[in-house]
Amino acid sequence: MWLLIIFSLFIFSKCLSARNPGIRLQITPRGINIVNTVAAVLVSKNAKTMKITNQAGRDINVEYELKDIKIKKFQLGKSSITRYTANSLKWTAENIDLDIDGQYQYKYRRFSVKYSDKGSFTVNFSKMAFKIQIQLGTDSSGRPAVRASQCVHAYGPIKYVFHGGKDWILKLFAEKAIQGIRNKFQNNLCVIVKTLVDKNAQRTVSNVNVKIPLGNSMMVDYRLLSYPSVSTYHLEVDFKGTVLWRYGQTEAPYSAASFPSNYDTTKMAYIAISDYLFNTMFIKLTDTTCLCST
Ligand SMILES: *[C@@H]1O[C@H](CO)[C@@H](O)[C@H](O)[C@H]1NC(C)=O
Repeated sequence: MWLLIIFSLFIFSKCLSARNPGIRLQITPRGINIVNTVAAVLVSKNAKTMKITNQAGRDINVEYELKDIKIKKFQLGKSSITRYTANSLKWTAENIDLDIDGQYQYKYRRFSVKYSDKGSFTVNFSKMAFKIQIQLGTDSSGRPAVRASQCVHAYGPIKYVFHGGKDWILKLFAEKAIQGIRNKFQNNLCVIVKTLVDKNAQRTVSNVNVKIPLGNSMMVDYRLLSYPSVSTYHLEVDFKGTVLWRYGQTEAPYSAASFPSNYDTTKMAYIAISDYLFNTMFIKLTDTTCLCST
């Protein structure tokens, strides 16, 4: 629910006129942090059920496979969504711990020397991280749009244990196989994170109704006037906020006055509504000429 509300606030528009907005929405870092909390929960939920495919390979004398790879623990230490550029946010997650287990098997063969074995293994990754940029934009109908780009990942110390087998043979492939698991996991995690932004969040914001009916004959135009902007104080979204005839769609002949600056960040969000919105509504309600002709 919160995700729906807040992500739908990541809004922007195509009609980039120089008009003043009828409605201004400012989301403070406290408000953005709610999105972050929800996003972190969703990432964890998706990461825990991630499938990691078998890792098979061969070296000069050894053929190996790691299979039944299961995520036993995924813990996201710290997640934050903050300003990145004037029109984008960055989502950073750090101190990710990941414990994995599975089964291994190998076949070793050198001249007439042959060994084969199998067993279980555990790998614990610590201090993994990812960072992604969230571009804020608008679509052609003045609805908000969000897009993820540049997923960057990192990792920290890795510990692993293989039960059974011959140590000197395990040494031939263990590091390489674990690296394969790590790459798979990190790539999958980036896909999960990008999907959350590009699909889930985008679907939410693009479902925003930018023209909301008001009675039978009027509608409020909530299209965005400009790209949402991000400052250290707020994520700011300016909506047109004009009342239009539902069918004629002619606009009021004057524009809104500008809003005073607001640097307050103690609340989660601020909404300013200009007199203009009420004025345009009043004009429509009293414009009898127009009422007669429709
Ligand atoms: C990894 O962590 C698990 C607990 O989640 C523990 O049982 C296991 O022994 C650890 N493995 C290594 C290699 O440290």
